[in-house]
Amino acid sequence: MRIPEETVEKIRQESNILDIVSQYVQLKKKGQNHFAFCPFHEERTPSFSVREEKQLYHCFSCGRGGNVFSFLMEMEGLSFPESVIKTAELANISLDPSLLNAAAHARPKEDSEKGRLIRIHEQAKEFYHHILMHTKIGEEALAYLLNRGLKKETIESFEIGFAPEQRTLLKQFFLEKKEFEDSTLRDSGLFTEREDGDWNDRFFGRIMFPLKDHQGNTVAFSGRILNSEENSYAPKYLNSPETELFNKRKLLFHFDGARPSIRKEKEVYLFEGFMDVISSFQAGIPNALATMGTSLTTEHVQQLGKITDHVILSFDGDDAGKEAIKRAGDFLEKETAFSIEVVQFPEKMDPDDFIRKRGEEAYKEFTAHSRLTFFGFLMDYHRKDRNLHNDSQRIDYIDTVLHEMTKVPSAIEREVYFQQLTEEFHLPIETLKDQFQSIYLAFRKRQTSERKERRQEQQTSQAPVQITVRKQTTVSSVERAERQLLNRLFHFEEARSHLKVHYPDFHFFTEDHHLVHVLFDQYQQETAGEVQGFIEYLNESSLKEKVVEIEWQTYGEEYTNQELDDCVRVIQKQQWITELEDKKQAIKRASKSGDSDLQQQLLMEIVSLNRLLKSP
Ligand code: GTP
Ligand code: MN
Repeated sequence: MRIPEETVEKIRQESNILDIVSQYVQLKKKGQNHFAFCPFHEERTPSFSVREEKQLYHCFSCGRGGNVFSFLMEMEGLSFPESVIKTAELANISLDPSLLNAAAHARPKEDSEKGRLIRIHEQAKEFYHHILMHTKIGEEALAYLLNRGLKKETIESFEIGFAPEQRTLLKQFFLEKKEFEDSTLRDSGLFTEREDGDWNDRFFGRIMFPLKDHQGNTVAFSGRILNSEENSYAPKYLNSPETELFNKRKLLFHFDGARPSIRKEKEVYLFEGFMDVISSFQAGIPNALATMGTSLTTEHVQQLGKITDHVILSFDGDDAGKEAIKRAGDFLEKETAFSIEVVQFPEKMDPDDFIRKRGEEAYKEFTAHSRLTFFGFLMDYHRKDRNLHNDSQRIDYIDTVLHEMTKVPSAIEREVYFQQLTEEFHLPIETLKDQFQSIYLAFRKRQTSERKERRQEQQTSQAPVQITVRKQTTVSSVERAERQLLNRLFHFEEARSHLKVHYPDFHFFTEDHHLVHVLFDQYQQETAGEVQGFIEYLNESSLKEKVVEIEWQTYGEEYTNQELDDCVRVIQKQQWITELEDKKQAIKRASKSGDSDLQQQLLMEIVSLNRLLKSP
């Protein structure tokens, strides 16, 4: 697929890198830049930065950088043309339909094993969906879903399907198509091995929910049993096994679909069941996700952290749900700086039950207005299994709550809780605060020593992880001069001719800068384009990153020839110093081998280099 140059240019002009990047990370404005945690590596302080006026991004820690297209290429693993189309989609720029068509065909990916597995899943999804919507054997399942309150549009939108009782339908479908090797089909996880070595469909008699990765590719299924009474031994939900595509520790149900609304609302509801996500979506609250029946993992949290820092835990209202909230909340508190709220549905309902029983309006009202802080939840949680009329249990309760309060960073918020405890237990607020202080100090002390330990551990174990994160070295004066010079050459025709005329033999000292210079020359001859186009022209990402580093600095609208000369001088000086060192080494070798002619010649060169270096 080739996209015409003018179209690329148009999309670049009409899109804004801030809008695109902020659909993936949370940007905070600081001075001229917008900062965020780098989406390309793990970090504890934000060093990823976007500069709107230049339409570039750059991470000071890992060195990655580029323009809007490079961002999407790296973020979504897209090719250049795919990234151009995706930019247009994200920026709501309308495109020639023929281009969109070409893109749709280009999408289900390269001819890799992974690409084939994705295509198998996409085709299986369409197959199951068709059976549900348009066939007689799907009727019962469709009736069940409609009866549960799902609308046809919702079923369409989540591409829900049905796998009938016959155990070889999907297999036949693929064998007739002859598109995939048997071995690939078996690797997909959609089939199970029989004892006689033959194989069957894994899913049968189940309503099929496609599970999608963060790019929207179908990578697995979860199948809900249709007739649970008859099949009391079969699990209610059956998931695909872990494959190259599917990892329960990573996948969040509906991440791809919910991302824009999570970003917009700046918060996400986390549910226990993915049916809750679907019902909530239908009820008009689309910023919701669910894990696939597992606890939250570091991988989940990392994904979430790219788009929000506010999580509302809305698990089922039963005891298991409370335990799950406690576990998830503790985990989030330990691993992240997210703000955490809790919504507990009454009468052991889950969100889906609540919507069905009380309606969409009541649901919206309840989720918006019946929130607890996580600490508020904990105050309630710790009452469980305690008889507060019993002195020792009551004291134990207050002590536990004060311990939990050490994790509440806001003094104002703590004040509110002190008040509540005072009122409920008729204790002087000073007593509570004193007690809290001593707990807090002990807690801080433990925390400091734990942190120290962790740091020591990291120092010994971190070496291999760090490889991807480039060391932040200080920039030498030569590099600085070279960047400035290149920056001027990028933007001013006259600067380019000044260099050519006055320094015909000029050569950048740093190898990468030299290469950038040569390639920019070439690019200029071919297209006479601007820096943004040059970034796209370069194939190698390390060179793109160099160009971003050079562009990042702002040097003022005007330049002078004096400025160029000064830069050249700094660079030349470094070259002379290096040459001088080389020659000194060479002269040592020459004196050892007794080559006096060479010694003489080298000496002359050293003298003249020294003279050059001393000249003003
Ligand atoms: P409905 O009964 O259809 O309303 O389902 P639910 O959304 O109320 O699901 P439930 O609260 O029972 O379970 C929550 C989540 O746990 C589900 O979305 C599944 O991901 C997972 N889960 C539940 N039952 C099973 C099971 O039998 N096997 C597996 N692997 N996962 C399950
Ligand atoms: Mn339910």
